[in-house]
Amino acid sequence: MALPPAFLDELRARTPLPGLIGRKTRLVKSGRNWKGCCPFHGEKTPSFYVYDDHFHCFGCGAHGDAITFLMRAEGASFPEAVERLAAEAGMEVPRPSAEQAARERRARDLHAVMAAAAEAYHRRLFLPEGRPALDYLLRRGLKEETIRAFQLGWAPSGRGAIAADLRGEGVSEEQLIEAGLLRPGEAGDPPRDFFYARVMFPIRDRRGRVIAFGGRILGDGQPKYVNSPETPLFRKRMGLYGLDLAREGAFRGAQVVAVEGYMDVIALHQAGFTGAVAPLGTALTAEQLEELWRISPEPCLCFDGDAAGARAAARAAEVALPLISTERTLRFATLPAGEDPDTLTARRGPAAFQAVLDGARPMAEALYGLIAEGRPSATPEQRAALRNRLTGAAWAITDKALAAEYRRVLLDRFFAAFRGGRGGPAAPRRIARPAIAEPATRAERARMLLAILLRHPWLLPQVEEAVGLLDLPDGPPAQLRAAILAWHGGAERVDSEGLIAHLARCGLEDAVAWALAPAGLPLAARAEALPGEVEEGFWHFFLRLRGEADLIEDQQEARRILAETNDPAAQRRLILLTEALEAIRRGEAAAASGDAA
Ligand code: UTP
Ligand code: MN
Repeated sequence: MALPPAFLDELRARTPLPGLIGRKTRLVKSGRNWKGCCPFHGEKTPSFYVYDDHFHCFGCGAHGDAITFLMRAEGASFPEAVERLAAEAGMEVPRPSAEQAARERRARDLHAVMAAAAEAYHRRLFLPEGRPALDYLLRRGLKEETIRAFQLGWAPSGRGAIAADLRGEGVSEEQLIEAGLLRPGEAGDPPRDFFYARVMFPIRDRRGRVIAFGGRILGDGQPKYVNSPETPLFRKRMGLYGLDLAREGAFRGAQVVAVEGYMDVIALHQAGFTGAVAPLGTALTAEQLEELWRISPEPCLCFDGDAAGARAAARAAEVALPLISTERTLRFATLPAGEDPDTLTARRGPAAFQAVLDGARPMAEALYGLIAEGRPSATPEQRAALRNRLTGAAWAITDKALAAEYRRVLLDRFFAAFRGGRGGPAAPRRIARPAIAEPATRAERARMLLAILLRHPWLLPQVEEAVGLLDLPDGPPAQLRAAILAWHGGAERVDSEGLIAHLARCGLEDAVAWALAPAGLPLAARAEALPGEVEEGFWHFFLRLRGEADLIEDQQEARRILAETNDPAAQRRLILLTEALEAIRRGEAAAASGDAA
């Protein structure tokens, strides 16, 4: 039941967010707002901000209002969260209006009509008229027990059978039309049966209520399947065939797997794969993925082993990318060419399908192939286009930390495929980066950058990833970076003295002395520098240490992030990147490195 928006608005307005969130994580005042360590991902330095009406974590991207907070923090359902907040705010959750109640009553009636229709079709399957259909199903390898569990049925070829069957139960013609079982007649003709001479597959919702039917022709012929029209109960983009059973299967530990057809779902359940579901005659939709994630954090999508199957998998990945997070993702499995799960289990037994599931690849691994397969890559233009597609796919992921990980994985594969050709796709590799300056200049720039980090380690949470990407000279620069990043990962307190003392204990005293030698150090590496100066100084040296090709890529990403988030920090970053690129193109790359930011 939908609640009036005005009620929800008032509920949010009457729920002080810092109070609510402060019960889960310690918050401290930050300007007009509050901040603390994010309750949704382990972190030691606060990047979780609480505003008047929403919260946002700059670390993991968690974002929402009071209601979503309760849902995420305590696993409450939407109605539960609303109920609890309303009780605390002294508000009453509005009860449904008369109109809404009437609509819900009609839907209940429609459910009863569909249940009666499923019964009627099922009964007819076991009458003499249904014999050919029953034989057909048995010949296809279904056991009677399976036929009953899926309540398969028979819609006879004569007219008016379903209406006659249901008349006795007080179901009107009008209701049959609303339920999609009769088509309204044209120009005064009487209504006609929607399904006739078809094997009937009741489509049930998550709770096991029949909401529609699929009907298959006996033997060959077109269309092979027809599905119920859209009705108040049925939207084909929403449900999944077998969802009620898969939900139970998943609860008992079965792998949730989405296949293509109704017969595949049935054959798989019979073979013991009780987590099988299928979409309803369309490609998988975002809504259907959401349903899958309600019952499993990592459902497996199973596709045909031909070109059409690969295209369908690529499309599914595209739908899924904006929706995945650290808590929910997908696996991709591929069938042997020419088989569907039904024929595979019939011909080669359950073990053959188990092997398909065992071979399923995690999303990150499957994605490269889905994007690169069949795309030309012979010329620089084609390779650049492919690379843009890869980074574009990664940045389609909403959770930006996850997006950065995907980008790295995809580009690693890309470079492995096109740089030098040494080492198989599985070999560990380093991304070769063109040296853009003399070694001595690079070492000096690395020193500036490290000095800034040594003096201002508070910068680490926001630059850690960028620092990790740099190709630093071996010896003190690379050693210091490794030790600084490791320290940051485990440090209780992030301060310069602590860091320097820690590095000394690690035997890096000389390296620290090298980095902090005063001659030529920029303002940003001084203890008294202001945060803005420190940030700018860091990026100044960072940009001059990174190769031009990488900067172009960074720039594209910064543009994308800015377009998506409209965040001022992203804008500053884009400006700095653009300036750095211009400087490099003007030939300033080789200029003296001691230029303070
Ligand atoms: P398939 O053609 O792969 O059928 O369509 P199938 O499931 O293997 O069927 P059998 O084994 O021949 O009985 C896959 C799914 O696509 C939808 C149905 O949901 C079907 O299960 N479909 C197919 C339609 O909606 N209409 C059609 O005409 C064909
Ligand atoms: Mn089939």
